[in-house]
Amino acid sequence: MKNIVIIGGSKGIGNAILMQQLETNLVYNISRNAPDISHPNLKHFSLDVLQDILPDIENIDTLIYCPGSINLKPIGSLNIDDFRKDFEINVIGAVKTIQKYLPVLRKGINPSIVLFSTVAVKLGMPFHASIATAKAGIEGLVKSLGAELATVVRINAIAPTITETSLSAGILRNERMKENMIERHPMKGYLKPEEVAHMADFLISENAKSISGQIFEMDYGIVTFKM
Ligand SMILES: NC(=O)c1ccc[n+]([C@@H]2O[C@H](COP(=O)([O-])OP(=O)(O)OC[C@H]3O[C@@H](n4cnc5c(N)ncnc54)[C@H](OP(=O)(O)O)[C@@H]3O)[C@@H](O)[C@H]2O)c1
Repeated sequence: MKNIVIIGGSKGIGNAILMQQLETNLVYNISRNAPDISHPNLKHFSLDVLQDILPDIENIDTLIYCPGSINLKPIGSLNIDDFRKDFEINVIGAVKTIQKYLPVLRKGINPSIVLFSTVAVKLGMPFHASIATAKAGIEGLVKSLGAELATVVRINAIAPTITETSLSAGILRNERMKENMIERHPMKGYLKPEEVAHMADFLISENAKSISGQIFEMDYGIVTFKM
């Protein structure tokens, strides 16, 4: 049984990860709202990861940081505060969490960290300047810490394309927008949170013990193929 800390397991991709891990592992969730489930293997802390002091946790094998943002505006409409806020929740929150739990994580079994990037780092898309900048920071963090911690803790990131969660609800708000989104992807689809959770499950497993410092695109072909 692994000890898994999820930051952001109340909804979205983090919640899908939490639901998949609960049956076989001990899950510590940290988010402002509680997940909509109680389970003997779940311990929840209601906290704002940026504002509050993170709780001490005695044993940790896996750390997964999910909070992020989708703040799409032309550069002229993005103010400096937009960039700061996106950087805070995507990067600083992850750094704060890693710094807090690394000493415990180092002592874990096959210890690993999973962070989240986005396809918009590799694929230039209009109006993504702020989020792409922040997530590029995540990719740099993964590379750098992967090297620094190579013998002790593995760290990887998943870079999903659009995934059906509350974060993307505005972009997938009606059937026509959903159909357009499917059409835009060469492999004709977009992600469900459970698909992303399966990738996280692999990355934290013993089967991924050779893998660190890497970014995994889950892209339905949008970054990989030009049709
Ligand atoms: N959805 C997409 O289309 C998409 C695409 C590419 C990349 N991503 C990335 O994938 C990751 C997960 O996205 P998602 O769609 O699952 O997001 P989501 O549905 O918004 O879920 C984010 C989770 O983080 C928690 N959270 C947010 N701010 C927090 C804070 N200040 N303190 C503590 N917890 C906080 C939320 O819980 P509370 O609200 O209860 O605090 C929630 O559990 C993000 O990093 C996102 O950038 C998503």
